[in-house]
Amino acid sequence: NMKILVLFGLVAVALAEVTRFEGEKVFRLKPVLDEHVTLIKELADSIQVDFWRPDSADLVTIDIDVDIHVPAMYLDLVYTRLQQSDMEHEVLIEDLQEAIDGQSGPSPRAHSYTKYNTWNEIQDWIASISSSNPNLISKQVIGNTYEGRPMNLLKIGKKSSSTKPAIFMDCGIHAREWISPAFCQWFVKEALSTYGKDSQMTSLLNQMDVYVLPVFNIDGYDYTHKSNRMWRKTRSRRSGSGCVGADPNRNWNAGWCTIGASSNPCSDTFCGYTPESEIEVKNVADFIRRNKSAIKAYITVHSYSQLLLFPYSYTYELSAHHSELLKVAEGASAALRSLYGTRYTSGPGAATIYPAAGGSDDWAYDLGVKYSYTFELRDTGRYGFLLPESQIKPTCEETMLAVKYIAAYVQKNL
Ligand code: ARG
Ligand code: ZN
Repeated sequence: NMKILVLFGLVAVALAEVTRFEGEKVFRLKPVLDEHVTLIKELADSIQVDFWRPDSADLVTIDIDVDIHVPAMYLDLVYTRLQQSDMEHEVLIEDLQEAIDGQSGPSPRAHSYTKYNTWNEIQDWIASISSSNPNLISKQVIGNTYEGRPMNLLKIGKKSSSTKPAIFMDCGIHAREWISPAFCQWFVKEALSTYGKDSQMTSLLNQMDVYVLPVFNIDGYDYTHKSNRMWRKTRSRRSGSGCVGADPNRNWNAGWCTIGASSNPCSDTFCGYTPESEIEVKNVADFIRRNKSAIKAYITVHSYSQLLLFPYSYTYELSAHHSELLKVAEGASAALRSLYGTRYTSGPGAATIYPAAGGSDDWAYDLGVKYSYTFELRDTGRYGFLLPESQIKPTCEETMLAVKYIAAYVQKNL
């Protein structure tokens, strides 16, 4: 019995281990000189810096906003170096732990479309929403995550005896981008509640199916709720490396690990040991390959920066359908903006933000899914990954308009 007690003790300690961010800050740096860029890269090499935007130090260039999260023990050093360099900078978040605490309401709470639901809440929601709408939704497991959680894919559309053309949308590739899974849930709710009322949604779901993967990186998402709010990657482990996970948006077989990705397993943009080494990536890639002839559009939802990107990101070369993809992106951004005035920038990934290979959008496009888009939802850095729950509703409402715009275009051009 002593043994059992000790075991319980160990389990409790393991479960209680939570990364805290007391006194840690998020800075916005504005490099305008080569020296500024060099300084940022030096800092990243010498101390532990969590890049919020761009995703890693090697993507830093002149004239972009650089948002970094700095642990408390390095603040003096960072302040000193910033003072010496005269680089323009501001503090976006004074105390990261306070900002996180200010966001989480009293738990436990039930599922809601206007809060950030836990994986357990989302899982129960998947089960109940699909069983209460059998005519419009079906679900299938496309595989398990590294830690064994089932990846449930929802198929929304009027039942048909033949295979319908389809749109595939995933959310939550990156664990800490919580607004993204919130959008996928919102989309499902809206699709169900406006079918038969809104003529566009009705016609879309009559003619096409929409596959929705509410949370792609479930292990990582769960980890951000329980242990480390700032986790980005998967949770896979390999003997030989003490570092956990790979970046599931650098792990696709599209210029894999050639640029804007790291081969260091400890990096937040680690491309993995091989393309599709991450089981979640492989499960989704297998599904899309299997249904390649039906899938006409691929939409993947991230945050933050307010961007609508399309291929390519692994090269500066323009894709074969560049002008059409740009036209649709601009139409979608205009539709989004019409609701609350939120401004999005659209363009090919490499030229619009930075080159980064191994992304799902480029992979889907090269497979033959012409309409391939990456959303980077709100905001532009005021809250970053800690977008307040009060912004879930407006963000989802405006994003619906953009997604519906893309869907309508795809449907018209089948
Ligand atoms: N911030 C996203 C990421 O780095 C942008 C993705 C754009 N597409 C791409 N293939 N890099 O994952
Ligand atoms: Zn992301």
